[in-house]
Amino acid sequence: MLPELIHNLKNEALALISQTKNAKELEDLRISFLGRKGKINQLFAQILQLTNQQEKINFGKSLNEVKQIIQEALANQSKILASDEETTFSWFDPTLPGVKPAQGHLHLLSQAIEEISEIFGQIGFVRVRYPEVDWDWYVFEALNMPPGHPARDEWETFFVEAPKHPQFGEMVLSTHTSNGQVREMERLKAKPPIRMLNLAKCYRRQQDNTHTLMFHQFEGLVIDRNIKIIHLKGVLDYFGQAWFGAGVKSRLRPFHFQFTEPSFEVDFTCLNCQGKGCRSCKSGWLEIGGAGMVHPKVLEAGGIDSRQFRGFAFGCGVERLLMLRHQIPNIRLFYENDLRFLEQF
Ligand code: PHE
Repeated sequence: MLPELIHNLKNEALALISQTKNAKELEDLRISFLGRKGKINQLFAQILQLTNQQEKINFGKSLNEVKQIIQEALANQSKILASDEETTFSWFDPTLPGVKPAQGHLHLLSQAIEEISEIFGQIGFVRVRYPEVDWDWYVFEALNMPPGHPARDEWETFFVEAPKHPQFGEMVLSTHTSNGQVREMERLKAKPPIRMLNLAKCYRRQQDNTHTLMFHQFEGLVIDRNIKIIHLKGVLDYFGQAWFGAGVKSRLRPFHFQFTEPSFEVDFTCLNCQGKGCRSCKSGWLEIGGAGMVHPKVLEAGGIDSRQFRGFAFGCGVERLLMLRHQIPNIRLFYENDLRFLEQF
């Protein structure tokens, strides 16, 4: 008798649950089956009165199973009712055009990285990637900045708590993509010609509207016989026009870096006023990065004979280029993943 009762109870419950049309009906059913005085508990009371111990155990077990099945059915039905409420279509018109799913695209920065690689690829630069966590040697010392040199202060450096390398010194988060210079000379076994584009993340301890702890830079490095400043100028003009548009010119302003001699800061003519001077640029020029002729000591650190070969290098921030091109006021917009910003590009 009991097994039949249990079986019937299950079937009855499942049938009723599947017929409910709203949450209230479902809740009433839950109470009538699983409530304190509900049908399940009534059967449990009957089982307790059995005298045969083994029977008690068996029936108790199967009643528990049924209880669980009913709980699951209730939960399921509650989901179905909820989703029915969301579907407001009362009829389906198969001739209506479909709803277009939202389509994503590459992040603005990824687009820029592709574009910059493409622009330099056109004139033979090879894109490489070197470690963002690198040794002091590649980031500073090989670039003519021995330990304790004051020029290092320009790069507010994060040091990694790791054992020192016996030869290369401390581990740091690379503060610029210039760490790729000597690494590239080594990769090519100190045999020019070298035409490198190193594009990577860099890390510096500075924060304001135009600076974040992490940002992207690209580094161009060209080494060959008879390389002159005019070659650097030509490459920068080419890039400026490809990135900002025809007519943009570059300007080299004397500056100082330990790893280039002579060194320059690079300006492009302002897009807004075509170099005449406006409210946003003031002078008609926008500063976009640093550059110079590779210092003989850097060539030597990479094993290249500085009497035979010369080179130029330049470094520039990717975010900065984008901010100038699109008048983006705050660098944080790149990293906040706000669709209202990202969807504009
Ligand atoms: N590494 C320099 C910086 O981050 C830029 C630079 C690169 C300057 C190459 C000269 C040559 O400021």
